[in-house]
Amino acid sequence: PHDHHRHHRQLLLIFLLISATTAAPASATTNYQVFKEAPQFYNSPTCPSIHTNGMCCDQAVHVAMTLDTAYLRGSVAAILSILQHSSCPQNILFHFIASATANHQHFRYTISRAFPALVFQIYPYDSKAVSGLISTYIRSALDCPLNYARNYLPNLLPRCLRRVVYLDSDLVLVDDMAKLAATPLGDSSVLAAPEYCNANFTSYFTPTFWSNPTLYLTFSGRKACYFNTGVMVIDLQRWRAGDYTTKIVEWMELQKRMRIYELGSLPPFLLVFAGNIAPVDH
Ligand SMILES: *[C@@H]1O[C@H](CO)[C@@H](O)[C@H](O)[C@H]1NC(C)=O
Repeated sequence: PHDHHRHHRQLLLIFLLISATTAAPASATTNYQVFKEAPQFYNSPTCPSIHTNGMCCDQAVHVAMTLDTAYLRGSVAAILSILQHSSCPQNILFHFIASATANHQHFRYTISRAFPALVFQIYPYDSKAVSGLISTYIRSALDCPLNYARNYLPNLLPRCLRRVVYLDSDLVLVDDMAKLAATPLGDSSVLAAPEYCNANFTSYFTPTFWSNPTLYLTFSGRKACYFNTGVMVIDLQRWRAGDYTTKIVEWMELQKRMRIYELGSLPPFLLVFAGNIAPVDH
């Protein structure tokens, strides 16, 4: 009966696909992607019961990702991989950040078609604010303002949220999200991320940076290592209390005036947090 049910659902989906395709000419410029409906994933009996009051719930696992048309396929794959490997998939709440000018209705439609039971919210991100801060030095692929949304998460997400796992849209999870979300942050770390202490940390910053003590001394007293900002467990309350968004933005403003680093959104995170983060188990 299970297979039969699935077969029936696939037929239904094909029908929806056709209707979606015929509806598409309404918007001539957008190429709407349609994804197959994922199976429903259920909590195992030992999962804590969560009571959602809006999107705030301390027992739930909160995941934040960006949504945009170019990477929608990646986001859908990431969401599926999260649900597939979770023992309590119904306890995961998704927070999506999308450009304020994007078609949120289309995103909402696409996500809820693919994952009918998903609990999620889409938050508008005013990319104009960051556009003026993006240094012209960086490669155009990293120039996408949505790349910088991670800087502003504590302002974009509801104030009541304590902890969130931020994920880039180009990854696939192969283990339980709850384990990642439970990464210990210790007494004072603002975030946890995968650290790579064998990477050549020097190479992320320019000779201009390393020849100016008022700049490079920012790392004094820290064992600064490269870390990946594509996977971060963030304590939003500690972030807000320390006003780390302002600190990141200050480095971006400096980068606009003098070239101190090579890449886009990553180096300001290294400048502010490297050496003070909690490690994520590789
Ligand atoms: C690290 O990178 C810097 C700058 O790119 C280079 O000068 C240095 O030789 C590198 N160190 C190692 C150990 O590769």
